Amino acid sequence: MSGYPPEMQESIRSVEATRARRVGETFPAMSMEQREKILSGFHPDYREETFHAVRVGVSKGQRMPVELARVVEARPHVGADFDLSAPVAETDVLVIGGGGGGASAALLAQESGARVILVTKLRFGDANTVMAQGGIQAADRPEDSPSIHYLDVIGGGHFTNVPDLVEALVTDAPCVIKWLEDLGMMFDKEPDGTMMEEHGGGTSRKRMHSARDYSGAEIMRTLRDEVRNREEHIAVVEFSPAVELVLDDQGRIAGAVVVNLETGVYGYIKAKAVVLATGGGGRLHYQDFPTTNHYGATADGVVLAYRVGAPLGYLESMQYHPTGAAFPEQILGLLVTEKVRGLGAQPVNKRGEQFVYPLEPRDVEAAALIRECSERGNGVVTLTGQPGVWLDSPMIDMIHGPGTIQRALPAMVRQFARFDIDIAQEPILVYPTLHYQNGGVRLKADASTDIPGLFIAGEVSGGVHGHNRLMGNSLLEITVFGRRAGRTAAHYAGQVMLAAPNLAHVAAWNREMEAAGIDTDVISPILLPDYVHRE
Ligand code: FUM
Repeated sequence: MSGYPPEMQESIRSVEATRARRVGETFPAMSMEQREKILSGFHPDYREETFHAVRVGVSKGQRMPVELARVVEARPHVGADFDLSAPVAETDVLVIGGGGGGASAALLAQESGARVILVTKLRFGDANTVMAQGGIQAADRPEDSPSIHYLDVIGGGHFTNVPDLVEALVTDAPCVIKWLEDLGMMFDKEPDGTMMEEHGGGTSRKRMHSARDYSGAEIMRTLRDEVRNREEHIAVVEFSPAVELVLDDQGRIAGAVVVNLETGVYGYIKAKAVVLATGGGGRLHYQDFPTTNHYGATADGVVLAYRVGAPLGYLESMQYHPTGAAFPEQILGLLVTEKVRGLGAQPVNKRGEQFVYPLEPRDVEAAALIRECSERGNGVVTLTGQPGVWLDSPMIDMIHGPGTIQRALPAMVRQFARFDIDIAQEPILVYPTLHYQNGGVRLKADASTDIPGLFIAGEVSGGVHGHNRLMGNSLLEITVFGRRAGRTAAHYAGQVMLAAPNLAHVAAWNREMEAAGIDTDVISPILLPDYVHRE
């Protein structure tokens, strides 16, 4: 029995009718001109009316989605008079964020001799890292090189990436894979013991390392275990998000105010350096898109860093993953990994026709799916009105042999089997979903920022991917820059002598908001999405 209703099954029959012919046919990739045209016509980033130029702070004028601007142009949780005289804890390096970036930073900071506290909003590991499925890129094969990886990243990012950051990303990549493997990560291997590596959208070589389709979960398991192994040296404090950074009177980072989510009590953690690894803002649901992100993804790090004066960049650019689940409703927007297309599944319309090369860069692929459903009217519309196109997953077993789907995509198989959909037999209905924040706090190659003592890693940062990230470069980014941030922060902490901590920047922020005429009752970081008031 199929979990699809009869109307959708009718369209599936058209998909089945063209399948055998399509297995031998590849839709041509777009030219640069075609890509530009489809992006400006259909990508959500080009809907000018959904953006707002921020009116306060050092990056005044930075465009960002209105939903993000609402939490940036907001009031702090604590006033400038909050008592900092009795810190609840004191450390060299305070890591804020319990995903892969934070864990990597904590490990390297500790190895570099620092005392480390890691605070996290929810449980350690509740982060987008565990939601990442497809893999992690690294050029470690004879036919590949970091230079080729560099060109792919820059091309995918529309040549707007910060070159030094891309260089850091691709040169550290092979050693990050070795580091993860040495820590115990179980990568997919060929029978001869070499790494299995696949293509992702926009890659010119096979360099996607994976652990089936739960690569991020496996990375997080590995890193979390290692942090736990070092619990004598790294303290982990859960359910305690940061709500404000603290500076000393010379403008250097001096720790953060955190709130205990269970008691509601605020406390000051004094630290010589802070690593911010709080992830992105998918739960702000820009333009009402569903999201692949975990519940804590509310752009907290952007808010915190911006209020102490760290410049922002690239926030006019968000990533909509081309293939979010469009059916059933219960899993709307959940990730359907790009690996499905990497293994040969084609996106096809309601008549079973190909309309796009399956592995265009993500923004282009997403725009093509939106066009097929909107302008061309070739999407399937579910009973609740959700449009989508088919991702023809049964092709994978036809191409690679029976059992491949079960072997390579066990998480995906299970996710749909819960709803009586067998993705080895039936295609998956997909539509773009909000996935990743391309921009954020401006980052330097050593993971520092313009604020002394503030280091960042991962999705909270902006610059490395330019205006479009390629698959597998975010698990890479969190580990490369998490490691760099941990090391640099520990080194910095070993040298700095802090002066008296204060929250003068909070008073200055409130004055600037008032001068700009911003009257808001939003208090940020908002910490959790507001589904009660969302229509
Ligand atoms: O499609 C995916 O598996 C997502 C990976 C990524 O965003 O890097």
